[in-house]
Amino acid sequence: MLARLHELAGPTGAELFAAIAAGLEGRPLTDDAALRLGTALRRTYPAPLVAEALTQAQLRERAAGKFDRARTMFLTRAGWEQASPEIVARHRAARFASARHVADLCCGIGGDLLALAPGRDVLAVDRDPVHLWMARHNGAIYGGEARTLLADVREVDLADVDAVFVDPARRSARGRMRTGDSEPPFDWCLGLPVPAIGIKAAPGLDHDVVPEGWELEFVAVDRDLKEAVAWSPALATTRARATVLPSGDTLVAVEGEPVAVRDPGRYLLDPNPAVTRAGAVEELGRRTGTWKIDDRIAFLSADEPVATPFARTLEVIDSGPWDQKRLPQRLRELDIGAVDIRRRGLAGDVDALHKRLKLRGSRRATLVMTRVRDRPWGLVCL
Ligand SMILES: C[S@@+](CC[C@H](N)C(=O)[O-])C[C@H]1O[C@@H](n2cnc3c(N)ncnc32)[C@H](O)[C@@H]1O
Repeated sequence: MLARLHELAGPTGAELFAAIAAGLEGRPLTDDAALRLGTALRRTYPAPLVAEALTQAQLRERAAGKFDRARTMFLTRAGWEQASPEIVARHRAARFASARHVADLCCGIGGDLLALAPGRDVLAVDRDPVHLWMARHNGAIYGGEARTLLADVREVDLADVDAVFVDPARRSARGRMRTGDSEPPFDWCLGLPVPAIGIKAAPGLDHDVVPEGWELEFVAVDRDLKEAVAWSPALATTRARATVLPSGDTLVAVEGEPVAVRDPGRYLLDPNPAVTRAGAVEELGRRTGTWKIDDRIAFLSADEPVATPFARTLEVIDSGPWDQKRLPQRLRELDIGAVDIRRRGLAGDVDALHKRLKLRGSRRATLVMTRVRDRPWGLVCL
């Protein structure tokens, strides 16, 4: 595989990728198109090289939403799926601004390296030779010149390193690992012998596994919660925070006056999942002057529209105790023809409910199934 990748990174690869692009004439590289192009290209190039070029071309197309320069990167399917999106990698790399010698442990195909390497000395380590080769190539596309080391991260001498970023694998050859499991394990990462450490983890990471003095940052791109990052005390600035990209707005979960609990007003705030995971809903309530509708439910409410990067604001057009029998008729009265159902704190089969509603109106709404002061409640929102 490495020999083929080397060849694809050179002039033969440039020719092959150009021939694939010419054959596609701007259309996507579907499996059918790959079959057709493969047959034609095998007349000129060796079959294994053509197969790899077509695989790379397909992976590049899929990775285009994650990396600006995906078109010239080399990828494995598992590698790019697990890789950090460029926008998140850049956000994280900013915390390493004062570090001069950084180790990128478990560098994969280089999704983090591309943001870490430019302008500083980075040692990229992975035990997968194909990933390591790709990390070096992909990092260079973004202007970084990393040193690479094929090794188990447990064996690496970190004496010359002043900061570590580690992104343990959460999949094995057998598929996704159980929530909380990773290779190397999170506990091992916590014990790294370097003061400045950033550990990427699944967004479901339990707050309790992060030691006192460390920060847990939850990162979302728009409303899509991407990951949790644990920052060691040398890089931490608080206990927990939510960050929303691309704006980079960040909300720290601090203690303060409890937010009042009242019935829903004319607007409902649905906090960004990063805010909910960071435990920062109360802080968002204080900042926006909004109230909670239940002690334990992560919705906020207001009588005026609220503009915040940390929540979407929905206009409430109907609100009352949950009454599933009356619901279809009520939605018809409100001229609702389609609903997105948002369920929080109330059990129910969303698919079965969808089928039972038989909607015919002209408006689209969000149907919120939740609790208000511990009573099952329904809200219809625009
Ligand atoms: C989640 S991926 C890294 C993704 C990377 N940060 C990126 O954005 O592209 C995990 C990587 O860890 C590597 N890995 C897992 N255990 C390792 C170990 N003990 N030593 C070295 N590499 C390891 C895997 O080979 C895989 O490439």
